[in-house]
Amino acid sequence: MPKLIAANWKMYKTLAEAETTARELAATLASRIPAGREVLVCPVFVHLPALARTLQGADIRLGAQDLYPAKEGAFTGEVAPRQLLDVGCTYALVGHSERRHVLGESDAFVAQKTAFGLGEGLQIILCIGETLDERRAGQLETVLARQITSAVARIPQDGAARLTIAYEPVWAIGTGEVATLEDIHAAHAVVRRLLAESLGEAGRSVRILYGGSVKPDNAGAILGLDNVDGVLVGGASLEASSFSKIVLA
Ligand code: PGA
Repeated sequence: MPKLIAANWKMYKTLAEAETTARELAATLASRIPAGREVLVCPVFVHLPALARTLQGADIRLGAQDLYPAKEGAFTGEVAPRQLLDVGCTYALVGHSERRHVLGESDAFVAQKTAFGLGEGLQIILCIGETLDERRAGQLETVLARQITSAVARIPQDGAARLTIAYEPVWAIGTGEVATLEDIHAAHAVVRRLLAESLGEAGRSVRILYGGSVKPDNAGAILGLDNVDGVLVGGASLEASSFSKIVLA
């Protein structure tokens, strides 16, 4: 599996700005993406169709930041997986810490989204991670186990092949606070073990990304760790110059 270098643009950029960044990224990375690396950009929903056109021909995937777990229906304001696939998305994030902690999404709802999105054929990046209080209370493993077990218990049989986990300690997101390499190494080993316990052999090939203040100057070391199969980047993905340095790190 190639290492996945994913940009989460969150609720940033006008359409013109998003198109400019995507064009710069495509130009900077043209024929330079190292073998064994896959690049993904996740803008806001409303920019997806335009960015699918901008990125046509570039070796850069497009992803959504969320999905709603139903085929269609009376769900005002929501977007279904098949609508995402229809506009050129192949990936979707699910359970990002901002959705869990700012918008109050439960493990059960995140589990539903994970299973449904995989069933519809999307590649799902399931985000997990502990808060600072949970880490200080020694609950790292309990929290990761709860988040992983609840979500993977319901995935379709062939779903593991399209599942990626993003381990993002909540206290390291957007704070400039990076987990140490030891912290990342230890947490990813726990995630790998939990995946093997719940998915068996298939759990060994699920990619595990690290996220939380990844920057051009720490990406290389993080990507070199065991069980780190990519990174999910917020702040440092907003400029094509810094995100492409991470892709090439
Ligand atoms: P950050 O965000 O890189 O700005 O810490 C990461 C994320 O929220 O996915």
